[in-house]
This record gives sequence, C-alpha cells and structure tokens, in this order.
Amino acid sequence: MQNSTIQAAPLLEAVELTKVYEDGVKALNNLNLVVREGEIYAMLGGNGAGKTTTINAFLDFIQPTSGKALINGIDANALPLEAKKHVAFVSENVQLYPNFTAMQNLDFFVRLGGKSHYERLDYERALHRVGLQSEAFDRKLKDFSKGMRQKCGIAIAILKDAPAILLDEPTSGLDPKAGKEFTRLVAELRDEGKAILMSTHDIFRAKEIADYVGILNNGELVAEKTKAELEGVNLEELYVEYMAGYMDEAPVSGSLSNNLS
Ligand SMILES: Nc1ncnc2c1ncn2[C@@H]1O[C@H](COP(=O)(O)OP(=O)(O)OP(=O)(O)O)[C@@H](O)[C@H]1O
Ligand SMILES: [Mg+2]
Repeated sequence: MQNSTIQAAPLLEAVELTKVYEDGVKALNNLNLVVREGEIYAMLGGNGAGKTTTINAFLDFIQPTSGKALINGIDANALPLEAKKHVAFVSENVQLYPNFTAMQNLDFFVRLGGKSHYERLDYERALHRVGLQSEAFDRKLKDFSKGMRQKCGIAIAILKDAPAILLDEPTSGLDPKAGKEFTRLVAELRDEGKAILMSTHDIFRAKEIADYVGILNNGELVAEKTKAELEGVNLEELYVEYMAGYMDEAPVSGSLSNNLS
C-alpha cells in the first residue's frame, strides 16, 4: 500500500459511474473508487451487485449511462484503444483458443496486446511463474482444466505488462491449492507496483490480500475499508450486515471489533 503522504496517481478510477441497462435495471449508481499503483482493491457483493458491470465499463464492454471509468487518467469509453494499452484483464472463464496450445495462445494474445518482442523462453518463464506444469506447454487448451486455462490467462496478463489489471472472480472454480497460488501471484504483482481491481466472492482471500475492500449492494458502494480498518474485524459479519442493509456507515470498532476472525 502507498504511503498516505505521497500518493501515486490513480491507475483505475470510477467517477460517479452509473449504468442503467436498456431494460431499466440500474446496475451501478454513482460509483466512486480509486486504485493506485501497488494496490489491490477487492470488490465484494452479492450476485447482481454490479461488480462485473464495473469491470466491463473499464474494458468498454458496456457504455456507462453517466460518469466515467478512467484507466491511467484516460476515459476508457471515449478512448478505449488508448486506455486498454494500460490494462490487462483476466475473467472467470478465460476465453482462449481451444485448438491452440498454451504456447500458441500466449504468442497470439500477447502479440494482439501489442508485445511482439517476446521469444519462447519468455513464454516458458511466464508459464513457469504461474505454475503450469511444463508438460502442458505444448498441449492444446481443449484438454486443459479450468485452473490450467486460468493460469494461461494470467500468464498473458503478466506478459502484457500493463500497469493495471482487472480480475473478474479470478479464483472462482479453482481448487484450494490453485486458488492459493493464484492469490500469491496477485499479491506479487501488486508488490511489483501493479494496480489491481478484482471482484470476488471469497471474503477471506479478499481480507488476506486486499489493500481496500469495497462492498457493493444494488449498484452502490455501501462500504469501503482499508486493510488497517479491517484489522481484527470479522469481514464476513460486516459483509452480511451491509448486505442486509443494517448499517449506513458501520463502525469498524465497536460491536464488530469483538468478532475477531
Ligand atoms: N447486459 C445486461 N443487460 C441487462 N441487465 C444486465 C446486463 N448485465 C448485467 N445486468 C444486470 O445488472 C445488474 C448487475 O449485474 P452484474 O453482472 O454487474 O453483477 P455482479 O455483481 O457481477 O454479480 P455476480 O456476483 O453474479 O457476478 C444485475 O441486476 C444484472 O441482472
Ligand atoms: Mg459478475
């Protein structure tokens, strides 16, 4: 986390971000959040809370109704090609080519992302780093498990070497070991200075690695806590109380401070 006196420039910033879908569903209502260099921001919230909509606005997959999604200060919906140079994305279901091998997928997508100077050794290093077994490097993805595909996705994100990373439920469906390895990798990338915005349903992992935890409910950010504020707080109970609408602004000390997690 950044020293509070010298704050890095925001790499990902939602400014009054609002999305009303065509059918009238208000998925986001004046969302404001900031992720700076060397920070992980974890978005928690129930199904339909607006987490994917937030990420999709940064990726220009959807147009906000009002407000802005800024990547490195660039409006992601006004200048999407320019903005996307500064961000890498890994979704829950990484969409890669099933008939390409891991190596071929890396080569294709990394070049597509604008990096053409890598050699096989660079791809091997990235796949080793994400923990893909070397015998799988030249196998087609159609035979890969979800976790193995996920590892290829994060390897592509690493090779893109963008300052910001968006992750939509990256550990969903991963076995506990793969989930733990993935979380370690995300923390490493943060420590290298990346700004990471992730959605997750994994409250415990969020508390473990995030510098900021935001709780969304019906498209509104109902709570935002720093790592220090969550010290000694049972985040699961805090989450449940916010989702039930018990609190407008919860005390981080007080009744909840007794629920040591
Ligand atoms: N393309 C769409 N058209 C219309 N409504 C949509 C669309 N995408 C999402 N929504 C609605 O917007 C709201 C927010 O959905 P979103 O996918 O952002 O939630 P989420 O927090 O990612 O949920 P989950 O945890 O289930 O992934 C929901 O009410 C959803 O039904
Ligand atoms: Mg979602």
